Amino acid sequence: MRSLRRFYYDLFSGFYDLIIRLHSRDREGLLRHFIAEETRLAKGDRALDLCTGTGSVAAGLTKAVGEPGLVVGLDFSMGMLGKAKELHRAYFCLIKEIEAIDEYQQRIDVTQDETLRTILKHNLDEEKEHASMLLEWVRRNDELFAKKMRVYLYPEEPELSDPYSTF
Ligand SMILES: [Fe+2]
Repeated sequence: MRSLRRFYYDLFSGFYDLIIRLHSRDREGLLRHFIAEETRLAKGDRALDLCTGTGSVAAGLTKAVGEPGLVVGLDFSMGMLGKAKELHRAYFCLIKEIEAIDEYQQRIDVTQDETLRTILKHNLDEEKEHASMLLEWVRRNDELFAKKMRVYLYPEEPELSDPYSTF
């Protein structure tokens, strides 16, 4: 692959998802969902997504193959792959923060020591802050997630959640 083309796609990766969404007039991200469904993958299947870009289709494929399955995304652009990796890191850390919230809450519910309960409650609040910070990052970097948040979390404030209004 010529380095100029690679450079172009590395640069393009920062707003690739937005351009695709606008170009296809697919505000809901339904096209990528459709593509994932048309593969007819089943639980436990394996898939190779060539030229995966930012990995948005591959992310849909992972839902189809489930935990025992495997999806591998390849791309010649390190910019595209970097964007996909950052989203994965954020999702993974968000899972860990939510698990921590649940674990702290379970220990708060059963501890007999008031001092320990106070410490655990403090830690629980911190984990909620961490999860919220990650969710905000995801909102700014995953257009479909931002759209769903706008619909389900802030339906009374549709102007609030335009993820590109603050960039
Ligand atoms: Fe945390």
